Amino acid sequence: MIRLDKFLADMSVGTRNEVKKVIKSGNIFVNGQLVLKPDIKIDENKDLVTVNGEDIAYCRYEYFMLNKPMGYVSATSDSKNSTVVSLIDENTKKDIFPVGRLDIDTEGLLLITNDGRLAHNLLSPKKHVDKKYFVIVNGEPDKSHLALFEHGVDIGDETPTLPAKVNIIKSCTWNELENYQDKIKEACDYRQENAFGTSGNCSKAGVWNESNYCDQDDTYNESYYNGKYCMLELKIHEGRYHQVKRMFLAIGFKVMYLKRIQMGRLKLDEKLKCGDYRKLTNEEIYFLTNGD
Ligand code: URA
Repeated sequence: MIRLDKFLADMSVGTRNEVKKVIKSGNIFVNGQLVLKPDIKIDENKDLVTVNGEDIAYCRYEYFMLNKPMGYVSATSDSKNSTVVSLIDENTKKDIFPVGRLDIDTEGLLLITNDGRLAHNLLSPKKHVDKKYFVIVNGEPDKSHLALFEHGVDIGDETPTLPAKVNIIKSCTWNELENYQDKIKEACDYRQENAFGTSGNCSKAGVWNESNYCDQDDTYNESYYNGKYCMLELKIHEGRYHQVKRMFLAIGFKVMYLKRIQMGRLKLDEKLKCGDYRKLTNEEIYFLTNGD
């Protein structure tokens, strides 16, 4: 059971104050009866609510696909940075959260929902939901390096990583990375800020140390422009802390740019620009919630 004004606010009819006015203006019917009080309780699963002649079905859960931009933290609140949740304007229920975490310098697919059960299922280490990333690293990994991923690598945790699949897209020079140069620089800035920013927090949990990634002079120095790079696609079955960066570090490469492109069967919609989001389609919700 739920208050009528909450039901209507949850279904984006208006803010809690706006819907009170709509109710008082005599435009709301519950099971065909005119209702003028905002605080009456209705059964959101059974009662038929009609607003200005239109039936409104209740959806308890919201599901958004965000193309996460850099500079946002995967959290619901943060004292220093903007959060991914702040990018969702249609956040009517106010209890949405990101499913898992992408680093501040990572872009791409992030599911945002208020469905705790789905989040738990997608994140549970036992479920091994696949995650696919587009990665640009410095240097030129070859097949022998990448074979290490297929066996699992030691990234300093109790157990090695599970076997991961990796495809080399192409090796390139800085000039050939034209479309990514600004992103690589931006990602480096965020890492610098994280490692040497005002908080002075260089050393995060466990073996991870931001300064492995960012020497103080590691901004746009000459090595950027002279070095070789490689674009790859990596599919992992876990979601450990900074997993992709730590995997490449374990085989001697540094991730310069990282973007998640798939989680389970949910693919990042290529039409979504960085920072944009959309609601999931019914089909997408179905295959996520049905574990397929
Ligand atoms: N692995 C990382 O290292 N960072 C991310 O944001 C996601 C996966």
